Amino acid sequence: MNPYEKPDYYSKKAMEEGYYARSVYKLMEIQDKFNLIKEGQKLLDLGSAPGSWLQYISKIIGDSGLAVGIDFKEVKAQYNNVKIIKGNFLKDHKKAELVELAPYDGILSDMAPDTKGDKLVDCYASGDLVRDALMFSYNFLKKGGYFIAKIFQGGDEKEIMDEIKLAFKTAKWFKPKSCRKKSVEIFMIGMDFTGKPDIKDATDIIENAEETGEMPW
Ligand SMILES: C[S@@+](CC[C@H](N)C(=O)[O-])C[C@H]1O[C@@H](n2cnc3c(N)ncnc32)[C@H](O)[C@@H]1O
Repeated sequence: MNPYEKPDYYSKKAMEEGYYARSVYKLMEIQDKFNLIKEGQKLLDLGSAPGSWLQYISKIIGDSGLAVGIDFKEVKAQYNNVKIIKGNFLKDHKKAELVELAPYDGILSDMAPDTKGDKLVDCYASGDLVRDALMFSYNFLKKGGYFIAKIFQGGDEKEIMDEIKLAFKTAKWFKPKSCRKKSVEIFMIGMDFTGKPDIKDATDIIENAEETGEMPW
């Protein structure tokens, strides 16, 4: 039996409180700590199914806001201020639909790869999803906007964080208490977007670190 299927404290709480997934408590903790989601904002939620983040976001942004969600699985959260796009975020024609609604005040990703059981492969696949979300954000996030993304620790998360640090005034790691005990997931938060970084800067950091033997993390 997959231990992830065993209902724990947060799964039961989600059922009792009418949320579609326990994931909502992770976003709640992020919101409690950083207070980024505000009334009237336009947000993009990548990997939305079944829709607990959208349930929570919909309440905060209110009627003047809009949350756009994308997933290839069915999203149950249906509200007037929520627009669902069905499909794969990695496909250009799906991105084009999201671009039509841009720019966004915040881009959030809870996307997770289809795990293969090989930790290294899974961690790098998770990193690839974050990189793609970050690239999209460079072009379609408003200046001053924020980026929240889940990543599996054990791949290239530190390099990705270095890039986030170049594009946002503030960058933080955050591990919600509601993450499952054994989970390798952690969240990367970029606040106050300043613009697409000169990627050469990131390469310089790595090259310099290799020369000096002093890694930047
Ligand atoms: C942990 S679940 C998200 C839970 C969601 N935040 C909620 O609160 O209900 C991760 C989701 O990411 C989706 N996903 C992964 N890769 C994706 C991609 N390339 N495009 C769209 N959705 C993707 C999966 O289908 C899955 O539903």
